[in-house]
Amino acid sequence: MNLGVFGVGYVGLVTGTCFAEMGNQVVCCDIDASKIETLKGGKIPFYEPGLKELVARNVAEGRLSFTTDPIATVEANEVLFIAVGTPSHEDGSPDISGVIEVAKMIGQHANGPKLLVNKSTVPVGTADRMRTELAKANPHRCSVISNPEFLKEGTAVDDFLKPDRVIVGAEDEVDEEVMRALYAPFVRTGKPVLFMDTRSAEMTKYAANAMLASRITFMNEIANLCEEVGADVDQVRAGVGTDRRLGASFLFAGVGFGGSCFPKDVQALRHLADEVDYEFTMIDAVHRVNQRQRQRLVEKVRSHYGGELSGRRFALWGLAFKPQTDDVREAPALTIIEELLTSGAEVVAFDPVAMESARRVLGDQIEYVSDAYKALDDADALIIVTEWNEFRFPDFERIKQALREPVVFDGRNVFDLDTMATHGFSYYSIGRRTIGREG
Ligand SMILES: NC(=O)c1ccc[n+]([C@@H]2O[C@H](COP(=O)([O-])OP(=O)(O)OC[C@H]3O[C@@H](n4cnc5c(N)ncnc54)[C@H](O)[C@@H]3O)[C@@H](O)[C@H]2O)c1
Repeated sequence: MNLGVFGVGYVGLVTGTCFAEMGNQVVCCDIDASKIETLKGGKIPFYEPGLKELVARNVAEGRLSFTTDPIATVEANEVLFIAVGTPSHEDGSPDISGVIEVAKMIGQHANGPKLLVNKSTVPVGTADRMRTELAKANPHRCSVISNPEFLKEGTAVDDFLKPDRVIVGAEDEVDEEVMRALYAPFVRTGKPVLFMDTRSAEMTKYAANAMLASRITFMNEIANLCEEVGADVDQVRAGVGTDRRLGASFLFAGVGFGGSCFPKDVQALRHLADEVDYEFTMIDAVHRVNQRQRQRLVEKVRSHYGGELSGRRFALWGLAFKPQTDDVREAPALTIIEELLTSGAEVVAFDPVAMESARRVLGDQIEYVSDAYKALDDADALIIVTEWNEFRFPDFERIKQALREPVVFDGRNVFDLDTMATHGFSYYSIGRRTIGREG
């Protein structure tokens, strides 16, 4: 099939590339000319494992191309995917203007029947609004499908190629058949393509993300309580996660969830409930607890230094909101850094891939170093915010030698308590006992 994809972000580029990989002819269109130039030059505008090779192969084999020309994209393709951003407004409501703009533009330039497939995460009722926009402008049969995306940054290619399920919200059997055919190569092992009405498909995405965010939040609450009553959250997690009814994923305690999806989607669901005067008590709590959790590590730092951080220098490992991505949107590291800077401390940071994206947000408010150990020189303590694998087994003696004092604040429970005790660190983590307090 001939497909057009609007937006070459994490979702759009992965979608376009994976459909090309299955033999479709795909053109990806973005309004950001620099991203399109980067792609045309054989590079990827962000970090996503395995994507570069897949893009290169499909470009070389003539199935994948890039453009900034939206009208040509509309005219040349009958099936048009939309994967543009839907960030939050100040009040937490989602900004869907990008999605609506693309629908309008397609309506104005449709030269025949078009099938719009919306992959952006949008509030319930957006597909209906898109249908209204399309109907205003054009005489051709244009329909809208809601096809929310569940890929995770860091494993996006694999998630797209092997989905647990595909959700398709459609109002028409002909459109359903197109989607069934397009997704058939991805669900050959029997994973379901679930057809439903568009409002339910839109809600499914928010419900899934909010539920995952709730699991993390619940475990963070348990972790905080563990600290008060002398239990160990990692042992509790093992005990809880082995219950088949519960499962082991998304149960790691830490400094709270971040990223471009969970915080924004939790806020959007909260807003959706407000709009219809429904008191969604749980979603409010998830948001509040997560905001509080981001402060928790800094509170431990403050308390270790008797409330005074002015003049202190901290090495910070990990800027991305999670490992295997360079995405710093809503990253807990940003909140932690802001708190430290406001308290008069200095921060010197290292992240394996997210330094450039962090620099775009933070500028020169902090120092960046190209090696994890370099960050330690002359620092009072090490703070770990992202659990990159390469941080898991460092040279502890080297860390100890480099720091002014052997103090580690670990927001992701990366290290073993006994190891830290053996090496003589003061070690603070989340939901576990503190090792040494002498500082
Ligand atoms: N990132 C994820 O892990 C993820 C997972 C599932 C769903 N989603 C949802 O998918 C959507 C896209 O997310 P993302 O992370 O890929 O966003 P992104 O910010 O990485 O990319 C969005 C892209 O859309 C482009 N764009 C904006 N307006 C455009 C227009 N009119 N025409 C063409 N391109 C335009 C931007 O320039 C940008 O390159 C969001 O609604 C998000 O909530 C994201």
